[in-house]
Amino acid sequence: MNEVRQNGGASQAQNDAQGATSGMPLKKVVLASNNAGKLREFAALLGAAGIELIAQGELNVPEAEEPHPTFVENALTKARHAAKLTGLPALADDSGLCVRALRGAPGVYSARFAQLAGGEKSDAANNARLVTELHGASDRRGYYYCVLALVRHADDPEPLIAEGRWHGEILDAPRGEHGFGYDPYFYLPSLNASAAELEPAVKNASSHRAIALRQLLARLSEEA
Ligand code: IMP
Repeated sequence: MNEVRQNGGASQAQNDAQGATSGMPLKKVVLASNNAGKLREFAALLGAAGIELIAQGELNVPEAEEPHPTFVENALTKARHAAKLTGLPALADDSGLCVRALRGAPGVYSARFAQLAGGEKSDAANNARLVTELHGASDRRGYYYCVLALVRHADDPEPLIAEGRWHGEILDAPRGEHGFGYDPYFYLPSLNASAAELEPAVKNASSHRAIALRQLLARLSEEA
């Protein structure tokens, strides 16, 4: 108990989590993000599986750095960081837009795409760079990618990893008012709509995050 306390103040639930191994049911999980939309989306799906989700901000966990060149490394880093500071199992996601004609860019650097070219860190600047770089390109294919990492404790040697891809095409003019990030430029031929034209509930049921989360839930139920 003392040992765990030195790691950031443990409760009984945290001690239970420290001892957790593959196959043990998870009751309470910290989400390594403060994004309210993600919390709602993940909490709804995990709640149905009997898992309570708490945002890391509620436990005073600061945002972790995302220094790695791969999504999975960044997701694992964020999950370990939250687990280490709370003593609870932790779930993290990392996501981005991968465009074929740009050889996978902006990819893992999606949030900082414009900034990396000397612009500002904003959705508008990112979208402007995307449109410029794709000017005249006939291949408009791209997909959103999401990876989820769930660790039962900071040193979990068997993290659960799940991924989702949501395929679409990149528009050269924006459509729709919903969503965030690249959504107004991300067109879904099967729905004849951009991601920003979809009602949030529709996007949340079919997005890269939804696909990854369903895969994660399937893994958890396989383990149970
Ligand atoms: P993060 O994983 O929340 O840090 O997202 C990384 C970046 O990828 C975001 O800042 C967006 O630019 C982009 N992105 C990820 N998922 C989406 C999405 O569902 N819609 C629009 N942009 C997204």
